[in-house]
Amino acid sequence: MPFAIRVHEVGGPEKMLWEEVETPRPGPHEVLIRNRAVGLNFIDVYYRNGLYSDSLPLTPGAEGAGVVEAVGSEVKEFKPGDRVGYAGGLGAYSELVIRPASRLARIPADLDEKTVAAVLLKGMTAEFLIRRTHRVQAGETILVHAAAGGVGQILCQWAKHLGARVIGTVGSEEKAALAKQSGCEHVIVSRSGPVSKQVRELTEGKGVPVVYDGIGKATFMDSLDCLAPRGLMVSFGNASGAVEPFPLGILAQKGSLYVTRPTLMTYVAQRDELEKSAHDLFSVIQQGAVKVSINQTYPLREAARAHRDLEARKTTGSSLLLI
Ligand SMILES: NC(=O)c1ccc[n+]([C@@H]2O[C@H](COP(=O)([O-])OP(=O)(O)OC[C@H]3O[C@@H](n4cnc5c(N)ncnc54)[C@H](OP(=O)(O)O)[C@@H]3O)[C@@H](O)[C@H]2O)c1
Repeated sequence: MPFAIRVHEVGGPEKMLWEEVETPRPGPHEVLIRNRAVGLNFIDVYYRNGLYSDSLPLTPGAEGAGVVEAVGSEVKEFKPGDRVGYAGGLGAYSELVIRPASRLARIPADLDEKTVAAVLLKGMTAEFLIRRTHRVQAGETILVHAAAGGVGQILCQWAKHLGARVIGTVGSEEKAALAKQSGCEHVIVSRSGPVSKQVRELTEGKGVPVVYDGIGKATFMDSLDCLAPRGLMVSFGNASGAVEPFPLGILAQKGSLYVTRPTLMTYVAQRDELEKSAHDLFSVIQQGAVKVSINQTYPLREAARAHRDLEARKTTGSSLLLI
């Protein structure tokens, strides 16, 4: 019987238990995958601690890659032995996982499963954020929070590849060097005072047309102060906690600003969107424009240690849970 991480009640990392589970059976349109590697993401923390909810017990995990073990009776596109990746849903912290065939990405011959598990969710997120939520233009200056993080490093490299000038924020001096390597022209260490003041200095007082903010509660209001008039605030995550409600009139006062709170799932809801996003991500990796940094690995059964490191801001780039 396979093993999986299970959460019977929400709470701290210690609530994740390594347990034997039933072997899952794929439905007619589903695929059973033997995971080779699982990607660590902040969304896993939200499900574990109850910020996002699902029925219990739950197995966290949205990103992984492995080999098809069995397919449902109606699945024609995949067969046992195929190498696939997936992004979204729950249940990835497991030796065996089920996904609908329509949600899988075939792994190109020149990429390995670890790379895909480290990048598929984070990289498709970067793709929709910089090419569809706001279309980043060559010569544009953009602000990216947590630039040395998982999504951050990929987003910064890709935005630079598109010709943008990237200002990144990081939590420490050590992370600043990594953000620079990821294409940031300027790096602001966020503990050194308000980010907005430094962004104004770096943009001759104008502000930036778009802010990518996955930190949430701690940075939201200051991020609004980084924007040029009619700029777009892209609030795409809650690493410091959920953004608190605020009066809409603030957006008028600060220059007719726009705010969006996008999720990957809306942007890859259709099969063709998923295929294109994954294809474009694999292309920038294959060209060498985006390098995937797997900076931490943990045995899957030690997922609690990985969560502690992620929440303590100790990780950089991508982290993998290995089976
Ligand atoms: N909307 C979507 O579809 C979507 C998809 C994927 C990810 N996301 C979001 O994107 C964000 C980044 O995800 P990730 O998995 O790549 O994580 P990550 O960026 O590798 O880790 C989070 C980073 O946030 C920064 N941070 C600032 N304040 C923090 C706090 N109080 N607690 C913890 N971290 C804090 C830290 O970097 P510094 O120390 O450098 O500040 C930390 O390393 C998350 O908010 C995630 O939910 C959203």
